[in-house]
Amino acid sequence: MTKLIVGALLLSVLLGCSFQEDMTGKAFVFPQESATAYVTLIPKMRKSLQNFTLCLKAFTDLTRPYSLFSYSTKTKHNEILLFVTKLGEYDIAVGNSEVIFKVPPNPYAPQHVCVSWESASGIVELWLDGKPMGRKGLKKGYSVGAEAKIIIGQEQDSFGGAFDAKQSFVGDIWEVSLWDHVVPLKEMDGGCYNGNLINWQALNFEDNGYVVTKPKLWA
Ligand SMILES: *[C@@H]1O[C@H](CO)[C@@H](O)[C@H](O)[C@H]1NC(C)=O
Repeated sequence: MTKLIVGALLLSVLLGCSFQEDMTGKAFVFPQESATAYVTLIPKMRKSLQNFTLCLKAFTDLTRPYSLFSYSTKTKHNEILLFVTKLGEYDIAVGNSEVIFKVPPNPYAPQHVCVSWESASGIVELWLDGKPMGRKGLKKGYSVGAEAKIIIGQEQDSFGGAFDAKQSFVGDIWEVSLWDHVVPLKEMDGGCYNGNLINWQALNFEDNGYVVTKPKLWA
């Protein structure tokens, strides 16, 4: 048994510095604009997705474009992308196609963002701070690729790289979750940390560059 544990530890050390951590009550802070600070999130399993739900909370005072969540595969850099183009405008991509949602601008407030997508209908739903912001459609019948690099803090213009400091995130991100199914977003008021692919309470990640983990400042 001990040998097994030592073996598993050694293997994880050899494979790189990834951690599993209960991040409850904590946030990733990206304190400076850069093209080098990011966190790679490692999903519990790698599978192609016909449905997904993504939730996260973020705070920033940026007014330029920035990325909140970048899921890239070798063939599609914007396999899943949650991007803010400007105040009050969210750009959501699936399989390199995108839709724009316009929302009431709410500067300098923390954002609780949830997005779901269903292949059967192509319907994307965006919820902000527990309120629906409407639905649009894209990539009906599509499957999101399994072998992905999942990055917060930077936007990928190639698989795992080609970052642009002018699209980097500066601020706090916390409670990031990803599910392989559509979660009814009406029920997503407070808690959004139990994703079966990315789970904030048992988060596998690698941080790179200037990223700091701190107690969260907002609920
Ligand atoms: C995706 O969701 C639809 C319902 O919208 C369901 O019928 C289908 O089985 C789901 N696919 C997978 C792979 O879970």
